[in-house]
Amino acid sequence: MIRRTQRLGGAPIPSDPQDSLASSIAIDGPTASGKSVVGRTLAERLGLWFFDTGMMYRACTLAVLEAGVDPADVAAVIALVRRLDLDLQWQDSAEPRALLDGRDVTALLRSPEVERAVSLVSGIPAVRTELVRRQRALASRTPVVMVGRDIGTRVLTEARAKVFLDASLEVRARRRLGEQRDAGRSTTFERVMEETRRRDQADATGQRAVRREQAAPDALIIDTDMLGIDEVVEACREAYRAANAAA
Ligand code: C5P
Repeated sequence: MIRRTQRLGGAPIPSDPQDSLASSIAIDGPTASGKSVVGRTLAERLGLWFFDTGMMYRACTLAVLEAGVDPADVAAVIALVRRLDLDLQWQDSAEPRALLDGRDVTALLRSPEVERAVSLVSGIPAVRTELVRRQRALASRTPVVMVGRDIGTRVLTEARAKVFLDASLEVRARRRLGEQRDAGRSTTFERVMEETRRRDQADATGQRAVRREQAAPDALIIDTDMLGIDEVVEACREAYRAANAAA
């Protein structure tokens, strides 16, 4: 279930679901490529909702762990995800909250336990089918800035604007290291680099794009290694404007 808790100004609200899907922007990229910060800022500038699909995979993983289900037990995970009361809410267009059975679990989604198991859960094709269905249902109601791994290639294939954010393994590992230290976790660059490499491998199945050659053919590829957040956001905004100018 997807619920909107605030009416948003600025965003064009198409009445036609197909138009809403086409007017959304799809942003893909590997872990720590900057999708979340770029997507959030872009959503604010475009007056659209920010939709981080990683939160849904993380919330499913949290539900699996809390239920005591083994993430490797595919049948049990699928059964749990299909009946899961997972809700996304927006009190602020750029800050979605994830709710499980009405409980706000947003703060729990980046725990080391969820980090370790999320690729396993998200690698199950039936889990992906279920979440893709829910993601499309939302984007057919109002245009969104949607970020993930399969947005341009599967979830929003009809989006006029698609972007793939790329960055080298070293730069991404350095960004993740900063995030982890900010969160008070002690780790090393080598360890984070290895975790990032492993995440890329685990995320490379099921129509997911973690390398630029796997991006949607009509996606704009932005190499973010040498760019600041604002420059990336502006490149995305220009891509959105150009793609939708004639619509
Ligand atoms: O983007 P984020 O790191 O929060 O995503 C967490 C995990 O969720 C990814 O590593 C990936 O396994 C999964 N995911 C996915 N497809 C998406 C978004 C996230 O498989 N569209």
